[in-house]
Amino acid sequence: MKPQVAARISAQVENELRRDHYPEGFPALPEIPGGRYTSEAFYQLEIEHLWKKSWLCAIRAEEVPAPGSYKLFERLGCSIIIARGVDNEIRAFHNTCRHRGAPIVEGDGRQKLLVCRYHAWCYDLQGRLVRVPEEHDFGDLDKSARGLLPVRCEQWDGWVFVNLDPDARPLADELAPIRDDLATLSMASLRVKGRMSYKIACNWKAALDAFLESYHVKAIHPQTVAMLLDAKGTAIGLFAGGHTRMALPKRFNREGGTWGTEADAYDIPTVPEVFRANNVAYGVFPNFVSPFDSAGFPFITFWPEGRDACSCELIFVGAGDDTETMENSEYWRTFVENYDKIQTEDFQFLAGIQRSLESGAFTGMKLCYQERRIYWMHEEFDRRIGVERIPPELRVTQLLSPFVEA
Ligand code: FES
Ligand SMILES: [Fe+2]
Repeated sequence: MKPQVAARISAQVENELRRDHYPEGFPALPEIPGGRYTSEAFYQLEIEHLWKKSWLCAIRAEEVPAPGSYKLFERLGCSIIIARGVDNEIRAFHNTCRHRGAPIVEGDGRQKLLVCRYHAWCYDLQGRLVRVPEEHDFGDLDKSARGLLPVRCEQWDGWVFVNLDPDARPLADELAPIRDDLATLSMASLRVKGRMSYKIACNWKAALDAFLESYHVKAIHPQTVAMLLDAKGTAIGLFAGGHTRMALPKRFNREGGTWGTEADAYDIPTVPEVFRANNVAYGVFPNFVSPFDSAGFPFITFWPEGRDACSCELIFVGAGDDTETMENSEYWRTFVENYDKIQTEDFQFLAGIQRSLESGAFTGMKLCYQERRIYWMHEEFDRRIGVERIPPELRVTQLLSPFVEA
């Protein structure tokens, strides 16, 4: 992280702690139309133009540890095999046999060759079709033209991303506005310590919104987050591409970890001071947020499961002993349990919010300055989908570009 970025975050926090009036020059935010959370047409636009064209965080690289290891990524109606080849490259393919479409593998595993279970067509770990039983009976089969269909697959510091759009720009370009800030976390060297997942009866954006602002901290987290962090000092950054940052100064436990844990043994030594004095969360477009900390943190991702249902998955990573996880370590078990408490507090109103939106009694969301990350993401959704494709009554006004951090 560049020293000037750290200085900017600290200065913003100081400024917010003192601020007692609406910031001069910042526009009041127009309503976000409620239909963006309920309309089937809007949901389909998101699937086609946002989800199927975005880089999506799928797995950790160490989850396919050896040549031949593979893991299935099943979201958005797709089934994708993520496999490590004999050359150690991680690649992704549609889990769809090029003979008659049977899924090639089920679940995760390790194999030298990927063999379809229906008629035993056989693919290597680069997706090439290498063996077809009774091949002569096809007459004109060109095996080189019937390899598994590839899916774009690139990595960022130990995280494996996929993109269903073959023409997507490289992941590194997509993450450029925030990559430098996060390089100091040494994420490639961290290991998975635990996982949690939740099903929530609301549109995926309603769930994500809860993680983009700290305006709710005093009201719904009085015994958890509010004890640890001072939401009054919340500093926010907006970045090109829909990415965002939110830093909350810590009240105590500056050494990292969560309450009730002894974090020293789990310290990631490269984490800069600004990430120790504050909880610095980044929102990575389109669907994940992570409250980075010096003694472990979760990647929190949100996934649509229809217009009014979603899932939220947390993958906890940390330093320390490679073999320690929430299954065998008091530290990581407590760490995950504490997050579970907070998540449960965050999710309590979401099904009710969705019912309100569906009932027609609620027409739109009125956001405040502290909620501007939500507005910025909505603007970016429209830019990605293409404003002209969106029914006028469901659009948001493009407003916040002048406030993007360079
Ligand atoms: S569908 Fe896969 S071998 Fe026939
Ligand atoms: Fe919260």
